[in-house]
Formats: sequence, structure tokens, C-alpha cells
Amino acid sequence: MLMSARRSVRATLNYTVDNGRPPDYYFYEPDPGTELNPPGTDAREVEIHDAWSEVGQLSADREGFELHDFGAAFNAFDDDAAVKRDFYPQVVEHVKRNTGAKRVVVFDHTVRKRLPADLKVQTTVQRPAVLLVHSDYTVASGPQRVRDILPNEADALLKRRVAFYNVWKPLRERVHELPLAMCDARTHSEGDMLRMDLKYRERTGEIYVMRHASTHRWMYFPQMEAHQALLLKTYDSETDGRARFMGHTAFEDPTTPADAPKRESIEVRTMAFF
Ligand code: OGA
Ligand code: FE
Repeated sequence: MLMSARRSVRATLNYTVDNGRPPDYYFYEPDPGTELNPPGTDAREVEIHDAWSEVGQLSADREGFELHDFGAAFNAFDDDAAVKRDFYPQVVEHVKRNTGAKRVVVFDHTVRKRLPADLKVQTTVQRPAVLLVHSDYTVASGPQRVRDILPNEADALLKRRVAFYNVWKPLRERVHELPLAMCDARTHSEGDMLRMDLKYRERTGEIYVMRHASTHRWMYFPQMEAHQALLLKTYDSETDGRARFMGHTAFEDPTTPADAPKRESIEVRTMAFF
């Protein structure tokens, strides 16, 4: 059979306007009069390339992501305790094997499904897809996360290389809609990363959102299978030119049939020590 001739799709991605102020999101009702600066208001149509032909050459240190076989033996994703007990150790081994890290610590996971129409409140563990170009940690929130998760060891650990990886995997079905697009980390510059403040009552977290640049090269894996996993690098302490952050977002693929099964995925967040 001939391979599909479709080498890319055009789709709209939600970038953020660089207006000199960090965009913000409040997890509580802000004081009246607070001037909000929402991210994601700069919708741009971009070309998103089919990455399957390059899958063997991609490097988390260069492009910022890889795709590997993971296996689909585990599928009890509705059982949180089982995810932690049985799936987390598989993720740890997977990250070690594919990065060479000596120690890998899982610190949380998110299951993504479309929310039922009558449920407007997101829980921390179950959330919908993210249609915003972002990278999960900043120069400050990466090390801060190490301090929060491993307070007693953080000083020693932060003297050496630490990198954060998300392992992103379809739950039980191939991805038919809302695929994840990744921006080749070599094609975004430091200035494209805009700090975004996540305002909680008791603290402010930060991630990056991105301003648009025509240099960005976007890629995705159409019809990614349930036994495969993306390895997304979301932070690296090394400043030797390797990928430190990597912009990514879910997107509406205009070629998706209306009756396509809904995407369900899990991402497990890890910190890796070398
Ligand atoms: C991630 C992420 C969004 C999605 O894994 O870091 O941003 O829609 N996922 O799956
Ligand atoms: Fe993310």
C-alpha cells in the first residue's frame, strides 16, 4: 500500500501577544479592578509537519522531543492507586532507558479527556486538552519544583544536571483528534518564551507561553498508537545549547472526521538526575 501523501496540515495555534507584561491566570476570583492579561489571544495559522519520517532521528536534547514504543500492557488508568503503583515504575524505567538518567522521580500525572458538558470545574488529575502554545517550566520554576518535591536533597541535586520529561501516552486508543504539536526547540529563541504567572491564593507558579515567530517549525505524529509514548523535555538545567524548553500544544486538525473517537491521554511528569 502507498504511504499517505499528506506530509503536513495547516491549523490554527493559540500563541500569546508579547505586550511586555507576563500573561496571567487566576485560580481564584481576583480582587475587583485587577487588570487581567490573558494568554493565547494571538491565533496563527501554521504548517504542522508529519514527523513519522523523522521519528528515528529526533532527540530530546535537540528538537526537545522523541517518540518511542512503550507497550500497552497497563491500562487501568481509571484507578489512581494502580497508576501510581504499576504505571509510574514503567515510566521511570522508560525515561532512564531513553535518556541515560541515573535517577528519575515521578511527581504527578494528568489524565486528559473531554470534560462532560455539565462539568465546568477542572480537577487537578483530570483535565481537557490544552489549546495554548506553552512549555511547562521556566528557568525559575524548574529548580523550584525540585526544592518542593525533594526539599532535603535539593541543594545537592541542583549542583548537577537535572532535566524534566513528560511521558505523554494515549490511554487505550490511537489518537484520532486533538493531537499534540511540538515546536522544534532549535527554531524558537529565548525571547519567544514569555513567562506566564499562575496565580494561586498562596503562591504564584510560572510556565512559559510563546509569542509567534515565523521561524517556528511544528511537528506532530498523526494517528499515534496507544503503545507509543512521546518523551517531551520541559526543562533542562544545562546551558550548553541543548534544548532546555519545548513549546507544545494540542490542536484542532481540520482534516479530522466529525465522528472521530475522542482523544484520551495521560502525561506523567518526571524529573531526571544525571
Ligand atoms: C503536556 C501537555 C497537553 C495536551 O503533556 O505537557 O501540555 O493536550 N499536554 O495533552
Ligand atoms: Fe505541557
